[in-house]
Amino acid sequence: MSNPLRIAVAGLGTVGAGTISILQRHRDMIAQRAGRDVTIVAASARDLTKKRDIDLSGIDIVNDAVSLATRSDVDVVVEVIGGHEGAAKTLVESALRAGKHVVTANKALIAHHGVMLAKLSEIHGVTLAFEAAVAGGIPVIAALRSGLAANRIEKISGILNGTCNYILSRMYHEQLEQGVVMADAAKLGYLEADPSLDIDGIDAAHKIAILASLAFGTQVDVAGVKATGIRSITLRDVRYADAFGYRIKLLGVAEFHDGTLIQSVHPALVAKALPLASVDSSFNAVQIEGDSVGRVMFEGRGAGAGPTGSAVVADIIALARGDRYPAFTVPTASLIASSAGDVHAQRACFYLRLSLKDEPGVLAEFTRVFAEEDISVRAITQRDIAEDASAQVVVLTHVTTSGQIARAHQKIAGLAVCVAPPVLMQMEG
Ligand SMILES: NC(=O)c1ccc[n+]([C@@H]2O[C@H](COP(=O)([O-])OP(=O)(O)OC[C@H]3O[C@@H](n4cnc5c(N)ncnc54)[C@H](OP(=O)(O)O)[C@@H]3O)[C@@H](O)[C@H]2O)c1
Repeated sequence: MSNPLRIAVAGLGTVGAGTISILQRHRDMIAQRAGRDVTIVAASARDLTKKRDIDLSGIDIVNDAVSLATRSDVDVVVEVIGGHEGAAKTLVESALRAGKHVVTANKALIAHHGVMLAKLSEIHGVTLAFEAAVAGGIPVIAALRSGLAANRIEKISGILNGTCNYILSRMYHEQLEQGVVMADAAKLGYLEADPSLDIDGIDAAHKIAILASLAFGTQVDVAGVKATGIRSITLRDVRYADAFGYRIKLLGVAEFHDGTLIQSVHPALVAKALPLASVDSSFNAVQIEGDSVGRVMFEGRGAGAGPTGSAVVADIIALARGDRYPAFTVPTASLIASSAGDVHAQRACFYLRLSLKDEPGVLAEFTRVFAEEDISVRAITQRDIAEDASAQVVVLTHVTTSGQIARAHQKIAGLAVCVAPPVLMQMEG
């Protein structure tokens, strides 16, 4: 066997502990698969007095994460601190400049600075790997890099935020309001320190931006993701969707056609017959459509010490084996600077829930808006009277453009008969 691969792990939280525990538990198996031993030389944490549930004997634990970048006894720096600025960014940049390979689970860092860091890795002849940054334990980056490399990818979509999927699943199965499930999710530690990252679709936006770059060979464009989260979704919407044969899911979607990249994160009604509809709880799923293979779907746990550690260790084993590849599957110089496509030109059917004054003539007012915007309506149903005495009316449209429905949504929201902001969702299948 050749020399051991020497690792430093920056961060001893959920993912850092998961990574160390797998490397220790499967030491012999990993050595066999990697063709050499993998040794943890050093690790870092902010608080050196904190009790950790892992065996840290023989590992040099330091407080200064960035110092790991320049240690002569380290070949690979594993960054599992988090955040797209500060210590994580400084550490990764310093490590690459010092000629160390870097493995990270940090989607925010890769979404915001991935191309700059990939360039640095090319200049210094090292590898930047981030399988754990997207969909946790699902090996989707390896699939895009190798298993599906023969395909022109036309579309990539999926359930990329386990916390939102957990919230929507419990709302559906237990008929609970979002606020109740959110409180539980916070107690269980499922929410990011800033819950808006999950609930407002920002975390999923980071992931779809990374996936789009890998799938289409485009520059990562996180600012180009139109992100809407799940805040406006109520139990009422979950129930109505169910009655129409749909589940509500937060989807990340990216498509690339003729140099134009369209990326979005949005809650959608997904027909129960579609595989994505039955991806429940905190599970993630990624669906890839390739021109030769057709549709491929991966499902698995998107977070947690085990699943995320599994992805980090997979990257470490690949490095130990000597696998070297460009961070975004192609050299950064050949990543295409795409133009952001017009989301408003996209065509779909839509669900629109209106809270209207329960009085005569109301129907005529909002149906006039649909006529003005040339939107063909498939069904209009009055579902119930809400606690605020508003009539709950659901409109399902035939295929229309996002632009038309957005204008109709805005006009209806401005009507005097509309007592609360209408809830608008795309329908899939
Ligand atoms: N948790 C998941 O399931 C999951 C899944 C996929 C990807 N990720 C990504 O993995 C990364 C780590 O997530 P995590 O859940 O493991 O985080 P975490 O549990 O909060 O752990 C973060 C670790 O980094 C240390 N740290 C925090 N700020 C630091 C700073 N400024 N300088 C040096 N060290 C610092 C902390 O030290 P102390 O322990 O002393 O506080 C802790 O050990 C993030 O990028 C996250 O997005 C996480």
